[in-house]
Amino acid sequence: MPESYIGLMSGTSIDAVDCVLVTFENNDVHLRAYLDHPVSNDIKTRLHALSRSAKQASLDEYSQLDVIMGRLFADAANQLLTNTGMSAAQITAIGSHGQTVYHQPEGDTPTSIQIGDPNIIAELTGITTVADFRRRDIAAGGQGAPLVPAFHQAIFQVPDEVRTIVNIGGIANVTLLPANPDEPVRGFDTGPGNTLLDQWAMRHLGQAMDRDGEFARQGNSNAALLQKLVFDPYFARPLPKSTGREYFNLDWLDGYLAESRVNPEDVQASLCELSANTIINAISKHAPQTHRIIVCGGGAHNPVLMALLNNNDAGFIVESSAAYGVDPDYIEGMAFAWLAHQTLQGRYGNIRSVTGARTDCILGGIYPG
Ligand SMILES: Nc1ncnc2c1ncn2[C@@H]1O[C@H](COP(=O)(O)OP(=O)(O)O)[C@@H](O)[C@H]1O
Ligand SMILES: [Mg+2]
Repeated sequence: MPESYIGLMSGTSIDAVDCVLVTFENNDVHLRAYLDHPVSNDIKTRLHALSRSAKQASLDEYSQLDVIMGRLFADAANQLLTNTGMSAAQITAIGSHGQTVYHQPEGDTPTSIQIGDPNIIAELTGITTVADFRRRDIAAGGQGAPLVPAFHQAIFQVPDEVRTIVNIGGIANVTLLPANPDEPVRGFDTGPGNTLLDQWAMRHLGQAMDRDGEFARQGNSNAALLQKLVFDPYFARPLPKSTGREYFNLDWLDGYLAESRVNPEDVQASLCELSANTIINAISKHAPQTHRIIVCGGGAHNPVLMALLNNNDAGFIVESSAAYGVDPDYIEGMAFAWLAHQTLQGRYGNIRSVTGARTDCILGGIYPG
């Protein structure tokens, strides 16, 4: 009898809450239904403001958004139940990533905060909710991120080729999958995926994204600017590493743009190159044996980004995960349903060779339905 889980994910882009229904049967995972649940512009603005100004953020605003996002996640799950005609009793659990508002895995007091109160999700859906996946890994000395590599390994590892999975969300992260299942899997955040593209498009077009890379296509990459950006110390940092919008934002970009006069469309073209180059460079450095790159996340829909990845000098074959029957937009949501399943089965969810944690951990807190 297959077990049904719901996965809830909202990434750094805050483009929508991804809500998926998956079934687990033996070792197979199937995506049965999905929904993009909208986040209002007002809430998006408040979330961005909160995460941008962690040092001055008000506890009141943080707490209100925790409740608002908890209700929004619950609404998404309930809407998916309505759409599919399923009842709460048919769902074993929800895995909810939450909305990251703070990710600071380095230093003396490392932590990572995802909001969207799971008490509210469990109460409003009646479904057991697993949430707060990252902090156990951080408590064990890890980065708490990325967490999707274990799921990538479960669905994409094959014995006959070395594959690298690239998730291009706001931040881009890679999972390096050796052909030999006994060799360690590695994974890390390469740096910006779409986030700088989105933020620059917002500043210059007033649009949440540069749809289909139209803006970037009007410009030409500026070699001098690109040269400065790729030398940012994050890209050369040793593994394990993870990052967020706290670091890669317009303040970061403005620091490099100071005094140089580059047209907005040329900046956009340069930012596309930055994302693509830093992804390819990271793979060339850490997994040069890669045969195939499988791309997921919203960046898979940006033809400019995909063309740049395809034109890599290293000879990597580049494909969307859609070529493997897995919708690129819902892999992360599926991953959090899968992580909830791991937790309820008493199985580990982190990969120590990815996050740098000292111990294998059963991740997350369980909020009974
Ligand atoms: N047609 C498109 N053209 C360009 N970019 C796109 C397109 N569709 C999606 N994207 C990009 O994908 C992002 C959303 O990707 P997603 O994987 O949901 O990221 P996150 O995990 O950060 O929420 C959008 O913000 C946008 O930058
Ligand atoms: Mg998203």
